[in-house]
Amino acid sequence: MALTIQSNVNSAKHEIYRTVISQCRALTEDESDLIACLANVSSLLKFSFDSFLWAGFYLTRPENPEELVVGPFQGRPACTRIPFGKGVCGTAAEKQETIIVDDVDKFPGHIVCDSLSRSEIVVPIVRNGRTYGVLDIDSDLPANFDHEDRKHLEDLVSILIPLFGNEH
Ligand code: SME
Repeated sequence: MALTIQSNVNSAKHEIYRTVISQCRALTEDESDLIACLANVSSLLKFSFDSFLWAGFYLTRPENPEELVVGPFQGRPACTRIPFGKGVCGTAAEKQETIIVDDVDKFPGHIVCDSLSRSEIVVPIVRNGRTYGVLDIDSDLPANFDHEDRKHLEDLVSILIPLFGNEH
């Protein structure tokens, strides 16, 4: 499938998200392979927003349901394992709540993966009460994420939820 990815030079954020959500549906509706879908969605997010420095997934593995392991992503190499409760990702995974960090330097325990990162949003992936992973996005701009990002990214994660919990 050929997708035209819209960048945000001239588009309002909600319009980009509308396109991203529809492309996320298109990328995943006929494909059940989890890693393939997450890889394409990481790329879709990273290249749709100029302000996204890193976009991708951390996943739990069956042998340790309280540790996140880096999954498909776009961006610089990141730390491989994050225990629940540590950093922004581990905190969102443990609390099963979306976390928005306006200034990563002020988040206690923030894990630095790219020194250019200034703000971050992490959306947990929860199905039937179990955390399967998180969607993590970093920006090089301070306070880049707000309630609008939260709503659209939670919608995006809900499209992905059926992929989890089968073979994972
Ligand atoms: N900053 C994250 C770690 C992951 S990287 O940003 C890709 C955290 O504090 O959990």
